[in-house]
Amino acid sequence: MTAFQKVAVLGAGNVGGSLAQRLAEMDLAREVVLVDIIDGLPQGKALDIQESAPIIGFSTQVTGSLALEAIRDSDFVIETAGLARKPGMSRSDLLTKNADILRGHAAAVKSYAPNAVVLIVTNPVDVMTYWFRRVCGLPAAHVFGESGTLDTARFRTFVALELGVAPRDVTSFVLGTHGDTMVPILSLSSVSGVPLSRLLSIDQMAAIVKRTQQGGAEIVNLLKTGSAYFAPSAAQAELARAVGRDEKRLLPVTAHLRGEYGLQDLCIGVPAVLGRGGVEKVVEVDLTPAERAAFDASAQAVRDDLQVLAALPV
Ligand code: 2OP
Repeated sequence: MTAFQKVAVLGAGNVGGSLAQRLAEMDLAREVVLVDIIDGLPQGKALDIQESAPIIGFSTQVTGSLALEAIRDSDFVIETAGLARKPGMSRSDLLTKNADILRGHAAAVKSYAPNAVVLIVTNPVDVMTYWFRRVCGLPAAHVFGESGTLDTARFRTFVALELGVAPRDVTSFVLGTHGDTMVPILSLSSVSGVPLSRLLSIDQMAAIVKRTQQGGAEIVNLLKTGSAYFAPSAAQAELARAVGRDEKRLLPVTAHLRGEYGLQDLCIGVPAVLGRGGVEKVVEVDLTPAERAAFDASAQAVRDDLQVLAALPV
């Protein structure tokens, strides 16, 4: 069942390419267009994916383009463009360079696809989500960021590996920023409803929290020449499906807050209901005092980055 007429993936790097493949294989859209500035890259990856259609059995048409105008009339846009982190580089180091790249893309969305829902992946994702929305002027509900869905997948994986249980039976929320200050919410974590605190020791949980917080860097350090893309593109595809099929999934995403969690005009990871309207509702959950303090510290880290952004021309 196709949920979208057209999905645009901005950036044909490892994340954009594997995401386009996942979207095509899900038959989520009639058309997926991959856009990049490197001649041959989006066209080549798109054609390669397209040529797998007879074997996999999907009907999605996959095209590649160098022109931003190719996103015209997209229902869903996923922003993956930007520089990736190198070893030793923080997400915030990327801020200014990636804001420059996203400025042009946000303007293109405003011109060519003003009715789209937009998913931001580019890091630092909380700040880039805020920036993209500010430049494109779309409704806040229509621009959200990935972060928590990926971080939660990592947390769930590490719990599953530690306990020897099925990864899908582990539920959790990782909230706050997609950075070192992210907050895995242990009080909302369970395995098929059994609270995590009954299954793991405090030390085991602390080790999993730390590994999750450094999950992106762990992959960067292993790959040496790039950052993660298999788990990120899986998270993005899950989010695309939630919107396209109007699934009303309750997932952790980077959303624009207007008073929720006591925060004003800030994008940060929170639980939200996702459907055809994008972020249809931010869900406020009670956190323990320690979790709340960690969440507030995470919000402060985003605010610090937003200060840098405030100096940039829109
Ligand atoms: C990650 O966490 C790079 O943010 C990306 O893998």
